[in-house]
Parts: sequence; C-alpha cells; structure tokens
Amino acid sequence: MSEKAIEPRRALQFRFRGRTVAIDRFSPRATALDWLREDALAKGTKEGCGEGDCGACTVVLARLEAGKLRHDPVNACILMLGQLDGAELITIEDLADGGVLHPLQQAMVDLHGSQCGFCTPGIVMSLFSAYHSGAPATLAGLNETLAGNLCRCTGYRPILAAGLAAIDGVAADRFAATADARAAALAALDDGRDLFVGDDTRFFAAPASLESLATLALRFPEATLLAGATDVGLWVTKQLRDLDRVIWLGRVAGLDAVATAADGALSIGARVTLLDAAPRLAAIHPDLGELMRRFGSLQVRASGTVGGNIANGSPIGDLAPALIALGGRVVLRRGETIRSLPLEDFFVGYGKQDRAPGEFVAAVEAPALAAHQRYRAIKVSKRFDEDISAVMFGVRLDLDGRAIAGARIAYGGMAATPKRAANAERALLGASLDDPETWRPALAALASDFSPLTDMRATAAYRMTVAGNVLRKALIEVAGDATQTRIGALHAAE
Ligand SMILES: Cc1cc2nc3c(=O)[nH]c(=O)nc-3n(C[C@H](O)[C@H](O)[C@H](O)COP(=O)(O)OP(=O)(O)OC[C@H]3O[C@@H](n4cnc5c(N)ncnc54)[C@H](O)[C@@H]3O)c2cc1C
Ligand code: FES
Ligand code: FES
Repeated sequence: MSEKAIEPRRALQFRFRGRTVAIDRFSPRATALDWLREDALAKGTKEGCGEGDCGACTVVLARLEAGKLRHDPVNACILMLGQLDGAELITIEDLADGGVLHPLQQAMVDLHGSQCGFCTPGIVMSLFSAYHSGAPATLAGLNETLAGNLCRCTGYRPILAAGLAAIDGVAADRFAATADARAAALAALDDGRDLFVGDDTRFFAAPASLESLATLALRFPEATLLAGATDVGLWVTKQLRDLDRVIWLGRVAGLDAVATAADGALSIGARVTLLDAAPRLAAIHPDLGELMRRFGSLQVRASGTVGGNIANGSPIGDLAPALIALGGRVVLRRGETIRSLPLEDFFVGYGKQDRAPGEFVAAVEAPALAAHQRYRAIKVSKRFDEDISAVMFGVRLDLDGRAIAGARIAYGGMAATPKRAANAERALLGASLDDPETWRPALAALASDFSPLTDMRATAAYRMTVAGNVLRKALIEVAGDATQTRIGALHAAE
C-alpha cells in the first residue's frame, strides 16, 4: 500500500465564491443541494423534482482538464456533496458582479426570458456553461443545452433568444477575467491523495489511484460505489435510502482513460462521463452519437458515467444493448485480478450482475466495425429528449456480399436484462438483403426470444411490435432501400 493510501486527506475541499471550503464532517448521503440551501444558505438554487429531471437545481462545476478550465452543468439535487472535491462550485448568486447583472442575466431581462422565475436560476446556469464553452450559440446547440431545463410558464422562445444574443463564443465576464487565478486555485487542490472522511462505519472516500480503489473496495465490499450519482442520487432523494459507506470513483487516476487500439477498438475507463464518451462512440458509428445525444440531458451526461450505465444492470439502460450488438466487453477488477467478459454475460438476471464483492467495473470495450459489418442502434422513448427507453435496440450484421453471414441483435426493455435475440439472430443467417421475404423468419422469431412486460413506459404488445419494426427498419436501411426510415437525414452511404 502506498504512503498516500495510508495517510488520506481527512477533509473534502472545493472552491466556492473565491475561497477554499474544507469540510471534515458530513453525511455520506448529503447532496450538494442540501449543503447549498441548508448550510451555505444559498437558496437561489431551487429544488423542483429532486430527481435530475427538471434542471431547477442546475449549478456549474468548473474543473481543470489538461490545464484548462471546463464548465459543466450538473443537477445539484442528485450530486453528492463529496463529489464537489477538487472542483469550483458556481451558483446563480455568483454571476452578477457588484450589482451589475451578468450578460446572460441581462439578456434574459431584456428579452423577457422569465415569468414566475422558478426555473430561471437553473436555466441561466445551463446557459452559463454554454457561455464558457468557447463556441457561439446556435439554435440546435441551445436546444440541447436546455433539454434538461423545464420551464412551464415562459416558454422557450424568449429564453433561446436570450442565449443566442448573449453567447457569441467569447466569454467576457469576471470568471473569464480571473481564469488564470481560478485555474491555479484548482491546481492547488489537486494533491493526488486519497480522501477519507469519516470512520470505518460511516464514510465518504475518494481514492486517487486504481490501487487505492482496489484495496478499499476489497476492504469494504458492501460499500456503495459511486460514479456520477445519476442513479445513486435518486436512491437518496426518492427512496430515502441511507448510505453508510461511499467510495466515489471520480478522482481515480486511470479510470478516466480512453484508448483506441490499432484496430480502432475503444477502451473507455469506467468513470469517463457520457458527455466525454459521446464523440468517441460516435466515431464508431453515427447511431451511437445520436444515442448519446438523446441520453438524459446535458446535466445527466456531464455527471453520469459509462461504467455506471453498465454496472447498474438496468434492463432499460441505453448503452448495454447498443454495445452488446457491437460485440463489446466489460473489464472487471478485484484486488489485483483483472478479467474481461462479453458484455451480455455480465447481466445474469434482474438486478444481478456477474460481479463479485469487492469487484468493480474498470473499463468498457467497444470494437470498431470491420468493412463487411453494418450497424444500427435505435432508441424508442415517449419523449425525444431526457427519457428512458421503452425499447432500445442494436444490431450488427456481418455481410458476405448481399448475404447476411452473421448477426448480433440486442434489445433493452424486452426482458429482465439487456438480452440478445438468439433465435432471431439464427433465423437471419443466410438471409439476403435483396429479398425482404428472407427476413420474415427472423422477425417472427422475436416472439420466441422475448416476453416483455407491460409497465408505465409501454405495453407488452407495443414493445413486441416495436422490436420487430426497428429490426425491419435496420434491415431496410442496410439494404440501401431509398425508403425514408427516419426523420432527418439518412446515414451517408456505407
Ligand atoms: C434525469 C435522468 C435521465 C436519465 N436518462 C437516461 C437515459 O436516457 N438512458 C439511460 O440509459 N440512463 C438514463 N439515466 C440513468 C443514469 O443516468 C445512467 O444509468 C448513468 O449512466 C448512471 O451512471 P452514474 O455514473 O451516474 O452511476 P451511479 O449512479 O454513480 O451508479 C449507478 C450504479 O452503478 C454502480 N457503479 C457505478 N460505477 C461502478 C463501477 N465502476 N463499478 C461497479 N459498480 C459501479 C453503483 O454502485 C450503482 O449501483 C437517467 C437518469 C436521470 C436521473
Ligand atoms: S430539482 Fe429537478 S433536476 Fe434537480
Ligand atoms: S419562468 Fe416559470 S417555470 Fe420558467
């Protein structure tokens, strides 16, 4: 065990309003919003849904990345207080400068972007992250920026107008003017030491290295592993669960690595956020980019991780079916032992994964597509943005000329786990892209692969119909039929 692991830092540290806040006692289940509203008495940040959906609680976290500041919007209601370690927390109260409104706030006033005002702090903070992104605002970009902010009285047109007026790609506020000093203050917090606040019975820990994480996870196998908290946060706010022992992965060096092998295969460290993984996945196939664009909201993608989306074992998680179809794998580590298995084998049963006590997801691997392979991923949900899938579908077809020589088909929302459609896959072998009649056995076989449930998202009958339709749609597209199968542009010719 390294000296660093033996002597962890005993206080959480983050920047807030130009100073470093150190907290050496806090509940592992405390949220950042609890701290803001109840301890710091900063009540400008609102609590609406308390589950990451409405964006009223949006704050911005500034962190250093390769020596530069980045500003991400996050939902404070489901962000654990300990996750602030090493970051600068910026809230709505911080924006005005000596009584002079921030350019974004002024634009919201000038263009009538607020009525009751409940959503406004969250909306301004989402816009603030875009203001510091370095890019001028576009309508499409702002729609994405605000997909996780609900305004139920003003309407979005004036809000979008305010964003378009104020965000020109050049940040000219006091945060930009003090960027060097802010970056230096964050760099000074980055001590590379493990963090451990509490005692063995109740603690919030944030190991700084893979070795420390592996040791800690073995020592406390029952501890809650916390990544982005976009699932775990709801255990606290909605299920009112206590969390005694929490091991946060957000500071583990190496767990944030993304590597591309010579053959194009991608290895994504478990704590890489969905936001950062998106362009890397999109490079494998545009459908993966589109899937990530529709994953939750910007706030959810900026916090949530690839590892969390796999490790949560959800039957309706988006990445698992998409990556199973691709031929993805999961890399697990327990102590010094590292193993890798096909992603589909990780999901053993409802809420049950092939993960031993003390073991954690270290990385998720996604192969590149070979020249003879075609791929599609399709998410079906009630809303376009910020919605959980009713059915999630992925398919990889291995072609021999116009014949289907191999198929990997995976669905979410159709069974207790993300699952391959083994019978449909077999039935598709030898089918011809030129003859839709030869697809019929595979479409029919889906009924023997799945018996989906009826729940609040969809009925069993709807799910079965959709499952067949998305497979058919993928086959039509891969066959190159000119039929318009999507709203918007079809993929470029493959
Ligand atoms: C508003 C909202 C919208 C959402 N939209 C979507 C959506 O569109 N699609 C979708 O699929 N999901 C969605 N989710 C669910 C969630 O955002 C994702 O599942 C996300 O990827 C979880 O990642 P996380 O890092 O936040 O996980 P956490 O909440 O930190 O953890 C989730 C689970 O995984 C475990 N865990 C995390 N990392 C590891 C690891 N490395 N090793 C072992 N165990 C680990 C935790 O112990 C916990 O059991 C949404 C959630 C919210 C609140
Ligand atoms: S209060 Fe609704 S997202 Fe946090
Ligand atoms: S101004 Fe009332 S909810 Fe947006």
